[in-house]
Amino acid sequence: MAKSRVQFICQNCGSVHQRWAGKCDGCGEWNTLVEEGTSGGIGSGPASAKNARKGRAVVLTTLSGEIEDAPRIVSGIGELDRATGGGFVRGSALLVGGDPGIGKSTLLTQAAAALANRGHRIVYVSGEEAVAQIRLRAQRLGVADTSVELAAETNVEDILATIADGKRPDLVILDSIQTLWTDLAESAPGTVTQVRAAAQAMIRYAKSTGAAIVLVGHVTKEGQIAGPRVVEHMVDGVLYFEGEGGHHYRILRTVKNRFGPTDEIGVFEMSDKGLREVANPSELFLGERHAKSPGAAVFAGMEGTRPVLVEIQALVAPSSLGTPRRAVVGWDGARLSMVLAVLEAHCGVRFSQHDVYLNVAGGYRISEPAADLAVAAALVSSLTGLALPADCVYFGEISLSGAIRPVAHAQQRLKEAEKLGFGSAVLPLASSKGSEEITGGIGAGAFRPTELADLVARIAGSRRSRANEDE
Ligand code: TYD
Ligand code: MG
Repeated sequence: MAKSRVQFICQNCGSVHQRWAGKCDGCGEWNTLVEEGTSGGIGSGPASAKNARKGRAVVLTTLSGEIEDAPRIVSGIGELDRATGGGFVRGSALLVGGDPGIGKSTLLTQAAAALANRGHRIVYVSGEEAVAQIRLRAQRLGVADTSVELAAETNVEDILATIADGKRPDLVILDSIQTLWTDLAESAPGTVTQVRAAAQAMIRYAKSTGAAIVLVGHVTKEGQIAGPRVVEHMVDGVLYFEGEGGHHYRILRTVKNRFGPTDEIGVFEMSDKGLREVANPSELFLGERHAKSPGAAVFAGMEGTRPVLVEIQALVAPSSLGTPRRAVVGWDGARLSMVLAVLEAHCGVRFSQHDVYLNVAGGYRISEPAADLAVAAALVSSLTGLALPADCVYFGEISLSGAIRPVAHAQQRLKEAEKLGFGSAVLPLASSKGSEEITGGIGAGAFRPTELADLVARIAGSRRSRANEDE
């Protein structure tokens, strides 16, 4: 019989090492290797040949055929359904990841209640909290009198035996995957081997019965417990629940979805009565604006199919440091360096004696390059002390040559800006290939520069025209 060997598995990325090391070769994280046994088949490839059984023939079938019931179960919580691509898919596994305390359990309790009210059988299994705690939360959320079935349990075999009883559940929520353990794997709960084995068992259950399952996963910075990363490839969909500590906005972001688009977001607001949907995120992110101060520009962005307007704030202050400070919240630091370099090289705007701080309002995070133009406008505005027009939106990508490049969905961005009362826009002259021509509305009178220098000249020129007005 093969001797049970020891292996060291990185708790961050799951790569297997024969020897312990301080740093994982796979992902470069420090102190994440943990010793795990390999005698079981799970997590370490097939077990010894002696235990192998003869394969059983399965029935092959066709693509067309009867599907018992609606393939999706819709919660009625619009922002959640949007992020999942139209509801939970039967027989699929969804991972909801996020920092501890961000509101995952709250969201799923509300989702469970909403689904139960629509006549679905929902089972909520918590491995982290006692039944009393969950009841307390449900009371606070005002959903205590729904038919959600509850259990505080961590053993996968026990959970499977429990839900096999009676009518098949429509949705099983497991909070969290890191607390689950199965008899089949020998490692401690929370290790990569256990997390993978437990997830595998639950996913197998979902596929074979047609129940949808939701796995909750904590994002961990330390290597103490395995992060959700290690099961991402096994599940059908991955949603991340994000938010900045001080803010009460929460964003549910689709990272992977085998049954829908991946660039959607759902926006929520955390209140004392749980999470509230925010159907129009632009109003939220623009809610606290001080229109008259320099250094603020409104970016007309896109999240999936939905336009989102958000304020970008820049502060450019004289620096006493040899190497001035560059700090970014909500955007890419490398991208900021690029925009600064283009401003210096092609527009004659110098930042070498200044600290630069950039912030995206509301704890929101932007990944689109289309924000370049709004960032450049905010930076120039802060440096010159000239406030930008309060009713203007900006979008466009900046290339290293200083040219302004077209971005997709220009018409949609402008429509959203118009809806929210904006009266002017700055956008690229060229329109992206395949997109409709911009007609009417604020697009017609928009300023459409081809070079970044044109925009800088226009902002600097506003000083002169303002001086003339004062005379
Ligand atoms: P929770 O859902 O327990 O987070 P997670 O499961 O992601 O760890 O939410 C915890 C936080 O949410 C906690 O700090 C309190 C806050 N909260 C509210 O502000 N309002 C509420 O109605 C609830 C239930 C929680
Ligand atoms: Mg929780």
